[in-house]
Amino acid sequence: MKNKNSAFASGTEPLPSPAPAPVPEPLLDLDALRADTPGCEAVIHFNNAGAGLMARPVLETVLDHLRLEAGTGGYEAAAARAAEVADFYAALAELLGARPGNLAFAASATHAYTKALSAIDFRPGDVILTTRNDFVSNQIAFLALRRRHGVRIVHAPDHPDGSGVDVDAMAVLMRAHRPRLVAVTHVPTNSGLVQPVAEIGRHCRELDLLYLVDACQSVGQYPIDVEAIGCDLLTATCRKFLRGPRGSGFLYVSDRVLEAGYEPLHIDMHGARWVAPGYYRPVDTAARFEEWEFPYATVLGCAAAVRYALRVGPAPVARRTPALAARLRERLAAVPGVRTLDRGPAPAALVTFTIEGWQAAPFKAAMDARGINSALSHREFAQFDFADKEVEWCLRLSPHYYNTEEEVDTVADTVAELARSAR
Ligand SMILES: Cc1ncc(COP(=O)(O)O)c(C=O)c1O
Repeated sequence: MKNKNSAFASGTEPLPSPAPAPVPEPLLDLDALRADTPGCEAVIHFNNAGAGLMARPVLETVLDHLRLEAGTGGYEAAAARAAEVADFYAALAELLGARPGNLAFAASATHAYTKALSAIDFRPGDVILTTRNDFVSNQIAFLALRRRHGVRIVHAPDHPDGSGVDVDAMAVLMRAHRPRLVAVTHVPTNSGLVQPVAEIGRHCRELDLLYLVDACQSVGQYPIDVEAIGCDLLTATCRKFLRGPRGSGFLYVSDRVLEAGYEPLHIDMHGARWVAPGYYRPVDTAARFEEWEFPYATVLGCAAAVRYALRVGPAPVARRTPALAARLRERLAAVPGVRTLDRGPAPAALVTFTIEGWQAAPFKAAMDARGINSALSHREFAQFDFADKEVEWCLRLSPHYYNTEEEVDTVADTVAELARSAR
């Protein structure tokens, strides 16, 4: 779709080809990227781990389609935009190093995750091997499977150096338990920890174990290559670091899993053909994990968001975004009364901290009142991690590449002022 106001002249043009090695990264044109992001005028948005600000081409794509639906009819509008809908899969495949047929749209990352879990025929005693930092809803889903199917949940220990899960210990557990599923969250919701998903994947491939990765906070922040990770299944949302609309997510399903015949428990007329009165056949692609009804405007907005992310460039984003967060973390760590909580050698752009003298809700309200978007994490989001850190809550600040160094400094100064006011 053409958009003259976009940071990219036509909205579809690729960045200039890189020079031969050593490859200089194309510089991000921050002014243009911010001009492309209406929300930048209104707030300091440090809640990209909640939902990123949509860029103008994404917003316009969604609105255009709603207008088309209103003007011509929902089914007719979908037919008219069939090629653009197909581009959702093509764009995502390009981003993740997959084929379009490996990808399914979902209403959220959790929707994608539970669909994936529903495809596994868990038996009593089957082991799910996971980590102490896996996402809260995933942990609840494992507990629900334990309650209903009698699975055993094994949490791999963290490495004593604080770098995340202990991969060697996890590999020993893989050999001891032969888990039915290995499940790892790449970057958890409650801190900037980055788990070594590719190292874990190598062990899973060696032992031929089913491997599910929650990449909800890492897609759009880091380059993600499903082959390099070695996962069978990967889930994420489009609304966070990919900057797509809310109510969106996706599931990657490897060829191995498709060919092995995995299908979701509740498969419908989109995922399967009813070929005879007593027989259905799942479709060959990951579409078997989708449902027939689709929020087309949202899917098209996601396609636009993924194309936008590809044009900005996953590599420069991966350098700038965690670097902005590192600057913020360093400044906050120097504020008396503030304790930063993120562990690991190179944390992601989720900066978490506690502050003396404040309760959770009033502190966030004070940030809101100063035009700074943030998010709270509570103990129940991270039972293991927050118990280890001995905290009940923290504030999470999550910048993205379109935020500026000046915004980082304003946010750090604001936290320092609030810390002083409580002392
Ligand atoms: C690591 C992680 N996984 C999964 C989710 C769930 O995503 P959704 O709200 O799209 O279901 C989140 C949301 O914050 C998350 O941070």
